[in-house]
Amino acid sequence: MRDKKAYLEADAKHLSPALNRAFDIVAKKASGSYIYDMDDTAYLDMTSGIAVNQVGHAHPEVAQAIAEQAQNCIHTSCVVHYPANIELAEKLASLMPGDLDNVFFCNSGAESVDGAIKLIKILKPGRNNFIVHRGSFHGRTLAATSLTTSKSAYRKFYDPLLPGVNIVDFPNSFVAKTASERKEFEESIYKNFDKLFATSLAPESVAAILIEPVLGEGGYIPAPFEYVNYLKFLRELCDKHGIMLVFDEVQSGFCRTGKWFASEHYGVVPDIQLMAKGLSGGMPLGAIATKKDLMSQMPPGSHGSTWGGNPVSCKASLKLIEIIERDNVLANVDARSKQVFDFFEAKYPGSNAMKLSEDHKSTPVKLRGFGLMIGIEFPDPELTRKVKEYAFENQVLLLPCGTYGNVIRLAPDLTISEEDTQKAIEIIYQGIEKFYVSSN
Ligand SMILES: Cc1ncc(COP(=O)(O)O)c(C=O)c1O
Repeated sequence: MRDKKAYLEADAKHLSPALNRAFDIVAKKASGSYIYDMDDTAYLDMTSGIAVNQVGHAHPEVAQAIAEQAQNCIHTSCVVHYPANIELAEKLASLMPGDLDNVFFCNSGAESVDGAIKLIKILKPGRNNFIVHRGSFHGRTLAATSLTTSKSAYRKFYDPLLPGVNIVDFPNSFVAKTASERKEFEESIYKNFDKLFATSLAPESVAAILIEPVLGEGGYIPAPFEYVNYLKFLRELCDKHGIMLVFDEVQSGFCRTGKWFASEHYGVVPDIQLMAKGLSGGMPLGAIATKKDLMSQMPPGSHGSTWGGNPVSCKASLKLIEIIERDNVLANVDARSKQVFDFFEAKYPGSNAMKLSEDHKSTPVKLRGFGLMIGIEFPDPELTRKVKEYAFENQVLLLPCGTYGNVIRLAPDLTISEEDTQKAIEIIYQGIEKFYVSSN
């Protein structure tokens, strides 16, 4: 095997620079919550492959399920039916909210977004508009890029994108501090849509509204839930105007937020739910879910995929679900989440933005999120960068997010131990103390 330097040189020579890598680590192995560099350094991974490895890297039972399936049947495509695919669709129907009971399997989040747009075009002929939320990330295919507004850099070279994409602000309820500001904030949500529908976009021309229940790449911000339930508001708006409501749960789904799907925090069922990332234990798999009577309107052959829902990914997903249910992983998500919020609240009283408080305190960081999808917002991107670097020097991997890069996203595996969680938050705290105090 070549050494690390040789691999990085070959990488620079032969791999596209378009795919940015956050760290110059060449993973020789990854297991549980750790990634091992070729120089043998062990890094605590608070990113889990960008919210993918729900039960850790290379979980032995998932790895075994993959190996067994691979020895039995790797791929057949749509030439025949196969059990893992059917069993997974059946299992998802029992886990998904409301009456969502039918899926189309693909390979990624972006593909699920693209497929959903095609499905909606069939279900809502003549309605050529979509509404998306500013700050959202829906993926990198051309259609998904058209709906993505977390950073203009993601769209920059690709005009003209899909027409009919209308952008509304993702409401960030954490900016309203006092009762009167909250009232104003709530009213502004209704007014924005009233104004949009009255002035430039007839609601009868809108096919669908898309939203990430918890904004991911755009800053780990839950949609308003306390004094105004934004998803419920969207549900009512969509019902009133015959618009489809799509929840992109690619990042927030599959127990990431302490429930199977983030929409459960809001008690709202979408018409279409999109899944990928944490769905399948690290294997590529995406899914578009809806009700059977809606999916049935997509005629045979009107959409497809060579690898979508392949037996190996489906088997990995089935094993993952079995582990999550058997080991009560959701309880660990709740406990570790509380550990993080309590730790920072003790260090910086008032840092827990999830608690509504009139008594607004200025703190170096503000935390928000559900479960293990926690955003730590810093006053500026420079401080965020320094804390990330400090953590890296101390063998903890953190990823930033947010349009301006001033948020650290905590998205470790959902089985992370109390000890490792403590290690990560202590390092982040040390970094904040080192750089925030000295820069003020
Ligand atoms: C909410 C959301 N939707 C869609 C995507 C695209 O997923 P993929 O990278 O699997 O295409 C992502 C990826 O980060 C995402 O976070």
